[in-house]
Amino acid sequence: MKARNFLEVDDLSGVELTRVLDLSEQPARPVLAGVGVALVFEKPSLRTRNSSEMAVVQLGGHPAYITDAEAGLDTRESASDVARTLQGYYGIIAARVFGHDKLERMVEVATVPIVNLLSDRAHPVQALADLLTIRQEFGSVAGRRVSWLGDFTNVARSMAIGVMMLGGHVSVACPKGYGPSETDVLRFTALAGEHGGSFEVAGSPVQAVDGSHVVSTDAWYSMGQEDEAELRRPIMVPYRVDDGLMAHAARDSIFLHCLPAHRGDEATSEVLDGSRSRIWPQAQNRMHTMKGLFTWLCE
Ligand code: CP
Ligand code: NVA
Repeated sequence: MKARNFLEVDDLSGVELTRVLDLSEQPARPVLAGVGVALVFEKPSLRTRNSSEMAVVQLGGHPAYITDAEAGLDTRESASDVARTLQGYYGIIAARVFGHDKLERMVEVATVPIVNLLSDRAHPVQALADLLTIRQEFGSVAGRRVSWLGDFTNVARSMAIGVMMLGGHVSVACPKGYGPSETDVLRFTALAGEHGGSFEVAGSPVQAVDGSHVVSTDAWYSMGQEDEAELRRPIMVPYRVDDGLMAHAARDSIFLHCLPAHRGDEATSEVLDGSRSRIWPQAQNRMHTMKGLFTWLCE
């Protein structure tokens, strides 16, 4: 087992990222035979929990679902002490947390890989499925134009990083105060320069989507932000993905959404259920890419 961590997509090199995607499409091998994977969740999950559990099963390992009632990250004991304890039983520790810093503190002490299953900052395991879905649709991510609408979430950040690392072009349109930070833009500009992609903040949703091969969005309010729903909704409405906006995308464009979707908010049912939607292959790819990532960690 490599002592490598996966807190954000660019913890991997471009070559390693491609290798993980390649492994995601290969038959499962029993690389986790006799090994357990701790799956710690501070927040709810349908896709991430179940795709991770089944990927571990396919690789011959034992998935252990651990809720925050048991782990109590930084409440019952420190996140570092949770990592120190679990690494004595498990070959990989994967966790979904509110604060990204909890994962960073686990990495500081852990001798086994730490995998981010979503934090306030990043959702890199989602990005793996997004990238595989784009690659399967278009043959490669390089040269493809990917647009993001609405709140620039954890999912948006990880997807943008992954797309640019594989030579794709990212254009985003977000309401004022809900877009990428200055730190994000600096990081993206450097990544795009290094890998041959590009990043731009577009002037409007139509400009962002214009000629896009992939249109994507996420919830207008993420887990933990539910009390901001009424504040955010009117601000986000102009960024809703509907058939009118999709008409500006490339003729062979696809629509992606990490799910869960809030139908009629960030995207209409016409788009979610329409012929360009690839949300169900994308959701299924969550399991294949967890298999690819866990296999890579064992190589
Ligand atoms: N996309 C995603 O991470 O879904 P869950 O919150 O259901 O895991
Ligand atoms: N941005 C969302 C993604 C859910 C999969 C959240 O963090 O709740």
